[in-house]
Amino acid sequence: MLEDMRTELTQLLGLDVPVVAAPMAGVADARLAVAVSRAGAIGCIGIGSTRTPDWVGAQVAQAVDAGVPFGVGFMAWALAVDSTAFDIALEARPALVSISFGEVEPWVTRAREVGAVVAVQAGTVAEAVAAERAGAGLVVARGGEAGGHGRNEVATLPLLQEVLDTVSVPVLAAGGISGPRGLAAVLAAGAAGAWVGTAFAGCTEATSSPAARRVMARAGATGTVYGRVFDIAQRLAWPPEYGGRALVNDFTREWLGRETDLAAAVSVDRAVPAAGGGAPDAGGKPDVTTAMARARAEGDVSMAPVYCGQGVGRIRVDVPAAEVVAEFARAADLLRASARVVDAVS
Ligand SMILES: Cc1cc2nc3c(=O)[nH]c(=O)nc-3n(C[C@H](O)[C@H](O)[C@H](O)COP(=O)(O)O)c2cc1C
Repeated sequence: MLEDMRTELTQLLGLDVPVVAAPMAGVADARLAVAVSRAGAIGCIGIGSTRTPDWVGAQVAQAVDAGVPFGVGFMAWALAVDSTAFDIALEARPALVSISFGEVEPWVTRAREVGAVVAVQAGTVAEAVAAERAGAGLVVARGGEAGGHGRNEVATLPLLQEVLDTVSVPVLAAGGISGPRGLAAVLAAGAAGAWVGTAFAGCTEATSSPAARRVMARAGATGTVYGRVFDIAQRLAWPPEYGGRALVNDFTREWLGRETDLAAAVSVDRAVPAAGGGAPDAGGKPDVTTAMARARAEGDVSMAPVYCGQGVGRIRVDVPAAEVVAEFARAADLLRASARVVDAVS
């Protein structure tokens, strides 16, 4: 059955199912990555800009111990500030290294030197061309419907078609691919596989909080918004062209469209000389950055971000990653059925 889905991706990495479980900082640790890889796809450890080298070392060691191929995912803009964790991750010889969002070339070169397959996410055709020039072995055409950070300029299908017509390296599709129908569609278009985040974010092995799982389970495809409000609130140094797609909540309702006011409120807080945030205001209300850190720690999803793409409308939560991978594998049946339709009409 899986022969229908042999692609450059499955051959490069020795997979049964042409799916990469995307790096998701704060959601995809080694446990999820290993579970996905054991099931025949490949999983990535998401490494956020605030992770310590020790944490990264422990995570990659766990994946190495599991004895399956795994990937690691970094943000190029964060590596430019500190690349210690990158070196630690490369020492563990990950099969796949994802570097996105910023100037990728130096990191692509170093990851290739240790024999890794290197993937770069691109949100425009220009970014895809730059990724190929930088030496990426896989270009991920990532549309604006995707969860988490990235560009919101082009949707997955128009981007995928143009990128497939433009670059020579294998192309993966990302953004809104949440099950076998989406995978079959992008394979039929010529992609070598799918790069999937949201569909794995609620898996048993993911680190999403119980509250995040609850809101993900309830959300529909129209329940997400794209923007920078969470980055502004947390004073994260994401380049402005890479906003994030997350579930609508009280915080996005209050601040989306009022980014200048939010930045002003945060910088007033910042002027207060207090470590990790500002002082409470006269009414005893904590400053925005402190309140956001607290909301994240306490799993208060009315304020903290729950990063998700538009595919959230059809995902299940609290299911093992192996079940999600097995569901994706059913794309082979869909592809066979569509081949029969083509045969019948020709
Ligand atoms: C919760 C979450 C966290 C993410 N964190 C990262 C990350 O750390 N690094 C990265 O390159 N991409 C990250 N992404 C983006 C994914 O790599 C991928 O582009 C996206 O999930 C694909 O779209 P989908 O969510 O519709 O499947 C994240 C996505 C989500 C949903």
